[in-house]
Amino acid sequence: MTHHHDLASPSVPDGLAVVVVAAGSGTRLGYGMPKALVPVAGRPLLEHALATVREALPEAALLVTVPAGDTELTAVAAGCGAHAVTGGATRAQSVARALAALPPGATRVLVHDAARCLTPPAVFERVVAALQDGAEAVVPVVEVTDTVREVDSGGCSTGTVDRAGLRAVQTPQGFDRALLERVNEAAGLLPDRGAEDPAGITDDASLVERFAPEHPVVLVAGDVESFKITRPLDLLLAGAVVDSRG
Ligand code: CTP
Ligand code: MG
Repeated sequence: MTHHHDLASPSVPDGLAVVVVAAGSGTRLGYGMPKALVPVAGRPLLEHALATVREALPEAALLVTVPAGDTELTAVAAGCGAHAVTGGATRAQSVARALAALPPGATRVLVHDAARCLTPPAVFERVVAALQDGAEAVVPVVEVTDTVREVDSGGCSTGTVDRAGLRAVQTPQGFDRALLERVNEAAGLLPDRGAEDPAGITDDASLVERFAPEHPVVLVAGDVESFKITRPLDLLLAGAVVDSRG
């Protein structure tokens, strides 16, 4: 099944666009190719990621950030009815470039890591439902299972953190488009003038907290199967999850 979306058209069903960021190099995975091209159960990671988006949100406009000079990921994106956009040097810069390429009819945007290629459709549905309920920034989270210890700049222990008060952050994160554009502008990321990422900002929702703190960030349940493939062990786990789904 293929889907085609005319990005020049102002009509975007439900006003929903999904940005899948896949322009990273995958240094920690160490596979010698962009992470989104690395095979999981015989198919490129990006193909799994786009299949999960399509299953959950078949009508959404779909944009994928790809590394400069890429042709292979662009072809994978096209095969899934997605529009490829050349990404930037950092994840935040890649997101900003995708925002600049959004179709005019998009009023809500989901930003998702291709590296979370097995995110269950229910997570996408919870994020979209929260936006439809009026939230302007939505983040899926899971409980932290490790005991977490805080250290000083020298690596010396300053105590154990109560993990009951912690959540680990995942994607897709959902936003009112105008709000996400505004905080990207405030951060100097949009329009793209090569600005550096603001210090301490590691995801899209924390841009909202920093630059539009009057807008609450709403949390919804993420899923352990929405883990990010970062290191070789994660890739093994992903293969096992795909096998277990049959
Ligand atoms: N990403 C991106 N543009 C960048 C950097 C990252 O679109 N300049 C995307 C990655 O492709 C990935 C997601 O952001 O889907 C999360 O990044 P990460 O897991 O760090 O992936 P990589 O940057 O590829 O991996 P590494 O940091 O190990 O090189
Ligand atoms: Mg990275």
